[in-house]
Amino acid sequence: MVSERLSQLKPSPTLEITAEAKALKAQGVDVIGFGAGEPDFDTPAHIKDALYKAVEEGFIYYTPTPGISELREAVAEKLKHDNGIDYASDEVIVTPGAKQALFEAVMALVNPGDEVLIPAPYWVSYVPMCQIAGGRAVPAATSSEQGFMVSAEDLEGSITKRTKLLILNSPSNPTGAVIDRNNLLEIADLCIKEDIIVVSDEIYEHIIYDAEHVSIGSLPGMRERTVTVNGFSKAYSMTGWRLGYAAAPREIIKLMSNLQGHSVSNATSFVQKAGVAALRGSQDCVAEMTAEFRRRRDRIVELLNEIPGVDCPMPDGAFYVFADFRGVEADSMKLASLLLEEARVAVVPGVAFGEAGEGFQRISYATDMEKIEEGLGRIEKVVRRMK
Ligand SMILES: Cc1ncc(COP(=O)(O)O)c(C=O)c1O
Repeated sequence: MVSERLSQLKPSPTLEITAEAKALKAQGVDVIGFGAGEPDFDTPAHIKDALYKAVEEGFIYYTPTPGISELREAVAEKLKHDNGIDYASDEVIVTPGAKQALFEAVMALVNPGDEVLIPAPYWVSYVPMCQIAGGRAVPAATSSEQGFMVSAEDLEGSITKRTKLLILNSPSNPTGAVIDRNNLLEIADLCIKEDIIVVSDEIYEHIIYDAEHVSIGSLPGMRERTVTVNGFSKAYSMTGWRLGYAAAPREIIKLMSNLQGHSVSNATSFVQKAGVAALRGSQDCVAEMTAEFRRRRDRIVELLNEIPGVDCPMPDGAFYVFADFRGVEADSMKLASLLLEEARVAVVPGVAFGEAGEGFQRISYATDMEKIEEGLGRIEKVVRRMK
């Protein structure tokens, strides 16, 4: 009765774990959730004020499909200023979340049978997006010894005549790895040589610590073959607002806009006004949130490395640690279930991000320090009992 294409899709394992932890909490069980992929801060006041004002002023109608010109211009300015990429405002599309921008980009670029290279471990939605487009997702494993930072070498062996697209995500969810300039230059050369288009998911751009964020679209010869995707969810703690964007050559943006016009129409009108306030207002809020994330990152890495059998490298970006638990239990799903049952702590098993993540656990530190200390104490107790 239902579509074969959609029947193949599996629900997002990260959302599943979060839902399971929430259900336990609702039953009164004291669960500490490290599964969440969203900042735990409030949206900054000046951004909320811009939304209230837009609603008060009656800015409540449909907008142009690719977004209001004020926001498209603000995005183009941001990409020039922060990322060193020159886009005209009509090479920008505003979308309901970066996820929608990624989906539209994949749909605009992938033909049935095309192969899409995805460095692994990878964010959970890239593979389903390729499947919906009729493409074949080809995971390219990165190595834990290199901190999961993807290199041209990791990709080379998986390239075939059918390789059309590469999806990059730096800083990375789930590993926190940031691709450095040298590696990115080599990847860019490879993409030019092999005629591969890049979708660059830069949603964690601002949540970065001692590393430098480089946009692949800014590298020589790459602007014409890159779709740069970003959004407001992580940098401004606006996950529920649903606002993101993509920038790319006009031909691609036009197709994405057609798809958006026939599906979700446009990002919510007054949310777009708030997006302008976020980009044009003070960026102090971003720096403050990142400073707090840094404090938590340092502490959680320290606590994890005190647990026997656990090895946790220091991630350069995002708000996750990807810790190696193979010295405790190599089956990440089994361990995550055990931790939920016995420690009442929700983490996401590494295998949810592809085979390359097996043996690891993703632990989000988008939660307060008290819960981090309590949760890690509980994990340590259960692990010591297993030893
Ligand atoms: C790597 C990555 N890309 C994209 C998204 C989607 O962001 P948005 O909330 O803007 O749709 C997320 C959210 O978890 C993410 O982790």
